[in-house]
Amino acid sequence: MTADRIAVAVVGAGRWAQMAHIPGWQRDPRAEVVALADVDSSVLAAAAGRFGVRRMVLDYRELLDDPGIDVVDVVTGNQPHYQISIDALSAGKHVLCEKPVHTDYRMTRKAAELAARAGLRTKLGFTFRYAPAIRYAKELIDSGFVGEPYIFNGFEQNSQWIDPSTPLRQFDPAADPGEIAVSSIEGYGAPIIDIMHWWMGSDLASVVGAMRNFVPSRIVRDTGLMTRANIDDGDMWIAEFGSGALASIQSSYVTVGNYPGIEARLYGSQGAVIVRLVDEFGCCQTIKTARKDAVEFTEAEIPARFFPPGGHSGENWEFLFYSNLVTDFIDEIGDPGRVAQGDFTQGALVQETINAFEESFRRRAWVDFPLDAPVIAAAS
Ligand SMILES: NC(=O)c1ccc[n+]([C@@H]2O[C@H](COP(=O)([O-])OP(=O)(O)OC[C@H]3O[C@@H](n4cnc5c(N)ncnc54)[C@H](O)[C@@H]3O)[C@@H](O)[C@H]2O)c1
Repeated sequence: MTADRIAVAVVGAGRWAQMAHIPGWQRDPRAEVVALADVDSSVLAAAAGRFGVRRMVLDYRELLDDPGIDVVDVVTGNQPHYQISIDALSAGKHVLCEKPVHTDYRMTRKAAELAARAGLRTKLGFTFRYAPAIRYAKELIDSGFVGEPYIFNGFEQNSQWIDPSTPLRQFDPAADPGEIAVSSIEGYGAPIIDIMHWWMGSDLASVVGAMRNFVPSRIVRDTGLMTRANIDDGDMWIAEFGSGALASIQSSYVTVGNYPGIEARLYGSQGAVIVRLVDEFGCCQTIKTARKDAVEFTEAEIPARFFPPGGHSGENWEFLFYSNLVTDFIDEIGDPGRVAQGDFTQGALVQETINAFEESFRRRAWVDFPLDAPVIAAAS
């Protein structure tokens, strides 16, 4: 920490930075957003004015030599995530990065190793593991409430892109239209895969599954044209764990329902928990529990200790969950002994799971885990 407050530079000042990241940092008095970077000067000026940030740069590299900056927070579109993270870590900054750091888990692991060698903290934008209901469930699981985990079911489903006229943001026009491209399972599935690993507490052994393209053509944001987009807008997967437990994951953005559309269920030898993170009727989260001797699920109250000061389930979920994420990162930066959660190492595990899912679909076969892929040559 440079002074009495952690100084943060946010790179990418668009929609998600303004909904979640910047308000989250500004909620914790131990942090200050001291600079914003964006290649789009109008976005930059709008964000700086809205949040009262004085320093603005078009090129994030101008910030890297500044010893007054402790954290670089990467909230650009996906493509530059890896390079900006590597540049920031190389300059000695702690890094929070939106998912994915890189679509190849080996590259994410390289970034994690770079951070470890430099003694720097990293964190992924795994928003939903910081939801009060998910954290409470994790405490219940650790206390033995569920017993031995048998079955996990994870859903991340919403209907954000069910209408083909909703502009598609991340689309590679050079992609082979004959081959379905990974989309929903990465953009939406990653957080529920993260929760699956976190709750199961066992090594993943093998996976199988399928992707589908339900809505064939869509408006593409950059061109405004209706375009054939052979992308995974819905998928289902099964996973086997070393403990013998089973899991299923289902992700889609063309399934009717409100955002974020997360549901995580864990059934074990003693009990079960079901957490829903779906913004419905002014409430963004619920947790229900049952025991083998009381099988009717009842809603549990989430204790106040899982919320930021003054926080409640009627807040915008983006702000509520990100406030917890940012506070946890500040705690980790301030306490070298604190065990990291949701860091780039976990990001590499989640990415490896997505890569294994994709391989199983391409080969139409079960794929063993971990993947046995050759190490990539030195990353820049
Ligand atoms: N964790 C979550 O729950 C969650 C939710 C929404 C979005 N996201 C992620 O957040 C990221 C941003 O999404 P968004 O909706 O805000 O997109 P956006 O397009 O609104 O904003 C991205 C901004 O980054 C800027 N940018 C692009 N390249 C840059 C560079 N090299 N240097 C500086 N600025 C650059 C763009 O000009 C743009 O203003 C994406 O990776 C997205 O997947 C995560």
